[in-house]
Amino acid sequence: MCSAYSAIVGRPSDQTAGTLRTSLVGGAGYDRSMDDPGSTEAGVYLRTPTETDREGFVALRRASAVSLAPWEPRAGDAEEQFGDQSFDRLLDRGESEADAPFLIHRTSDDEIVGYVGLGQIFRGPFRSCYIGYWIGDPYVGRGYGTSAARACLQTAFAPESEGGLGLHRVEAGIIPTNHASIALVRRVGMRKEGYSPRYLEINGEWQDHERWAITVEDWDAPPRR
Ligand SMILES: CC(C)(COP(=O)(O)OP(=O)(O)OC[C@H]1O[C@@H](n2cnc3c(N)ncnc32)[C@H](O)[C@@H]1OP(=O)(O)O)[C@@H](O)C(=O)NCCC(=O)NCCS
Repeated sequence: MCSAYSAIVGRPSDQTAGTLRTSLVGGAGYDRSMDDPGSTEAGVYLRTPTETDREGFVALRRASAVSLAPWEPRAGDAEEQFGDQSFDRLLDRGESEADAPFLIHRTSDDEIVGYVGLGQIFRGPFRSCYIGYWIGDPYVGRGYGTSAARACLQTAFAPESEGGLGLHRVEAGIIPTNHASIALVRRVGMRKEGYSPRYLEINGEWQDHERWAITVEDWDAPPRR
């Protein structure tokens, strides 16, 4: 359930969820100069998507379509997968209690550089979810993906009293040949839990996936990364 999976299934947050998320990572109208919890060491911050992000998001997805396609479920034709409808789905996800989608913005100029989000959020005794992410072509290899994933995990694990989601576990499913993604999850401290044949239909085929995960105990355990 990595990257594109979350990127293509997507609404603006309801008041409660929006406040929770944005208090930690920055929402519409969020003033980073006052309190900068969403900024990361690689110079990006996370923000819940709003309609004003449409143009930048769609332009980046269209420009990155060739790189993203091998790692995403197909969603209709190319226009449906990478055009306006991909942003409609993202906004839809923002309204769901089961999703927490974020756009990754570059701190220096607020450009959208990619996406990271939590999906299929279970509460109750499971308190688990999936993380997904992608970085647009012009911005890969600069540490943005790693930093954004860290900020997103912090949101997942922070207690609700501190503006987080209070989850216990976060999982990523990754195609074994996706070395960049595997490097990323290693870097943020996730561990490989298993291997599932024909786990997800990606780019039109049932693809094997490695399943990587981290629990809040690992996230909190010293020494931190
Ligand atoms: C996976 C992805 C999000 C990584 O984002 P990113 O911002 O480029 O990653 P970062 O810059 O934070 O990390 C770069 C690191 O990954 C390593 N890396 C990059 N590409 C790599 C590759 N093909 N093989 C191995 N390592 C790779 C770099 O060496 C670097 O490590 P270093 O800092 O130790 O040198 C990005 O490649 C992407 O969007 N891929 C397509 C979508 C996708 O696969 N999403 C995940 C699906 S599970």
